[in-house]
Amino acid sequence: MKIAIINGPNLNLLGQREPGIYGSSSFEDFFNELKKKYTAIQFYYFQSNIEGELVSALQQYGFGYDGIILNPAAYTHTSVAIGDAIAAIKTPVIEVHISNVHAREAFRHLSHVSAKVAGSIIGLGLKGYELALTYFIDSKK
Ligand code: DQA
Repeated sequence: MKIAIINGPNLNLLGQREPGIYGSSSFEDFFNELKKKYTAIQFYYFQSNIEGELVSALQQYGFGYDGIILNPAAYTHTSVAIGDAIAAIKTPVIEVHISNVHAREAFRHLSHVSAKVAGSIIGLGLKGYELALTYFIDSKK
């Protein structure tokens, strides 16, 4: 089973970046644990701070993969192009946000991707990525 995780801007700084909001674990540490726990999964990981690279990654993983777990970070709230890319591809996408964006500033309440994804997991920390993964695993059974 092939699962892609795509992270948007500033998520490369997880662990150091506003730890009160995003926690103190780096994505790499979390991802290494995830890979150890789910050895049967073929994982593909991509992070970029550049909008167009995220669109290209969605196109690349969007055909022939079993699921995409996407945290578009700040582009969630601004990017029509990322929303369009999700609509254009075949692979189901789950949107994940580490923080509860609805409890934060009003500009974080709008998502250009929520209406195009299979579902959204918001505010449950890094655990949200694992919950998205188990959804894809269970749907394949
Ligand atoms: C985020 C929430 C976004 O509003 C923010 O811009 C991020 C991270 C989250 O995972 O909580 O960079 O997507």
